[in-house]
Amino acid sequence: MTINPVFTNAKPLAARDARQQFEDDVVAGLSAPQKFLSAKYFYDAAGSDLFEAITRQPEYYPTRTELGILDTKGAEIAALLPTRANLVELGSGSTVKVRRLLVHRPDLAAYVPVDVSETFLHSEAEALAADFPNLAIAPVAADFTRAFTLPDGLSHDAVAGFFPGSTIGNFEPPQATHLLAHFGRVLGLGATLIVGVDLVKDKAVLDAAYDDAAGVTAAFNRNLLVRIERELGAVLDVEGFSHRAFFNEEASRIEMHLVSGRSQTIRLAGRTFAFAEGETIHTENSYKYTLESFRTLAVAAGWTPQAAWTDAEGLFSIHALTRA
Ligand code: SAH
Ligand code: AVI
Repeated sequence: MTINPVFTNAKPLAARDARQQFEDDVVAGLSAPQKFLSAKYFYDAAGSDLFEAITRQPEYYPTRTELGILDTKGAEIAALLPTRANLVELGSGSTVKVRRLLVHRPDLAAYVPVDVSETFLHSEAEALAADFPNLAIAPVAADFTRAFTLPDGLSHDAVAGFFPGSTIGNFEPPQATHLLAHFGRVLGLGATLIVGVDLVKDKAVLDAAYDDAAGVTAAFNRNLLVRIERELGAVLDVEGFSHRAFFNEEASRIEMHLVSGRSQTIRLAGRTFAFAEGETIHTENSYKYTLESFRTLAVAAGWTPQAAWTDAEGLFSIHALTRA
């Protein structure tokens, strides 16, 4: 067996292209009538650390709840992965969840974490390699919404996907359908996909989860402005914006915004973007599903629901899907 081989074709966007893409996206978002920024830009190294800190806040139930389901049902879930499968984790972040599947499946051919947050991706892959010395690990620094190829050198055994954390909720339902269909094409026919999906619940629980008392989610939200200032050379006042998050029951989503505390401007790429006092930049949606509404979305994306698991309180769900 090959031991932790290094794969060679993990191709991150060239730094200049990535910077230009970031600038173009920010200019487009700040030019819209309701200003917005893409949630994928939360995740530089500092953003990944802040997200990990969010997962440790008492109000943020999703991570500990999904880990609880994996602790109790991990063997059952892992048993659905095909023999000697290559396991591709989409938006991998921390390896804390996949470890709960890997311990049950020493036969897996390779683990392929895919993430835009490159520094964190590689440090997590190294830590995993130390603990699973017989597992081939092939990190891919890529935007999973775009075309990306799995590393050369993977065997032609079956491919399975793991998409935990309810990252699917950060996409508008039509985009979420496209994304699941896209994953189907990347993973190929016969693939199995394990997806973590946060469930609709009491508004007070949801509001608190996205506005923790320690202010970590607020710092995560503001980190977008920190990045725009540092990486794009924008002239802006990070402290001039405050964090707002609330559950929009009609749309079944958490909305996160950065609220301008006064009349002010952001200057970027030769442009000036004006803000009135109270005007917001919409930075993230986090859609909440029912078991049934998520199954409907998965079917529309060409997947067949096989099984689903929840915690005793019905806060969070994990779905197993297959693609015939
Ligand atoms: N899977 C982890 C992390 C969830 S946070 C968990 O369940 O806790 C969302 C992760 O997806 C982050 O690591 C972020 O960097 C990554 N991510 C967000 N948008 C992405 C995109 N478009 N392409 C690749 N990775 C993305
Ligand atoms: C990664 N994603 C599923 C998180 C969520 O809950 O929507 C991101 C997050 N935003 C604020 N807190 C956590």
